[in-house]
Amino acid sequence: MDDHSFYWWSKKLEERAGIVIPASRKQFLASNLNQRVRANRCQNEEEYYARVLEGPLGAREWAQLIDCLTVHQTHFFRHLPSVELVRAEARHWYAESQGRKRELHAWSVGCSTGEEAWTLGMILASEAASYQRAYYSVLGTDVSQPALSLARQARYDRERLREIPGNYRERWCLEDDLGFSIHPDLRRRVAFATLNLLDDSAAPVLSNLHLIYCQNVLIYMPRRTRHQILNRFAALLRPGGVLLLGPGEVMTWEHEDMETIDNPRTLAFRRRERGKQA
Ligand SMILES: C[S@@+](CC[C@H](N)C(=O)[O-])C[C@H]1O[C@@H](n2cnc3c(N)ncnc32)[C@H](O)[C@@H]1O
Repeated sequence: MDDHSFYWWSKKLEERAGIVIPASRKQFLASNLNQRVRANRCQNEEEYYARVLEGPLGAREWAQLIDCLTVHQTHFFRHLPSVELVRAEARHWYAESQGRKRELHAWSVGCSTGEEAWTLGMILASEAASYQRAYYSVLGTDVSQPALSLARQARYDRERLREIPGNYRERWCLEDDLGFSIHPDLRRRVAFATLNLLDDSAAPVLSNLHLIYCQNVLIYMPRRTRHQILNRFAALLRPGGVLLLGPGEVMTWEHEDMETIDNPRTLAFRRRERGKQA
């Protein structure tokens, strides 16, 4: 792949799908693209691009290409210090909500095949269970439709059970001969939607969130783009709400409404209560 072609494809991918492919991953783009060109029996990349513009079948092929180009690796309870922070925050939020509605709303951004959203669901549901009337919801979003369709199926191989701590496993996972599925009680509270983070006009109707959990998603994006996305996240949180990123995901972001949560093993920010400025 020459530089011109790399530039053309990376621009198209960023504009249309929000996928950022840095120059260091040129070979990765070239080999995946090549594979899709051959799989579609096209003569070259130009013919392939014309193919992806052709009606519903083209749209399906475009989704397939995006899926090849995005890293979907994920786990249940992936980063334990962050998970522990969510648990502590949820416990605190529910306990503090006396007189107010006990409800928590969380967003798992770039949720891939769903493990992160289900993890948040298991924690919030388990904390809510201490109260008679406590509610929660989790929305998982991703740019990859194939990944989301696996998330919605909520079925996983048996070996993945090892990632889930025993108490959560017993309550929320239903084992069968082939693996396990997520308990229907949890499935009623966790939803999934397609969302390209770079397309701010397409953001789902979200506001007043208690938690935005975004790990291993922003790492490939340029710094300016990351900061724009984080500024949008800050505006979607309720006062006191928490933004939890992957450790090392951003180095220099600051926002007047957000303060860093002092926890050396996580990268987390809290939205200041109204009237409290830095
Ligand atoms: C490595 S996975 C991380 C999954 C999960 N957050 C975790 O930490 O285990 C990264 C996910 O981000 C998604 N992603 C990448 N660029 C995106 C974009 N512009 N908008 C939405 N999702 C995106 C990918 O499709 C992929 O599923």
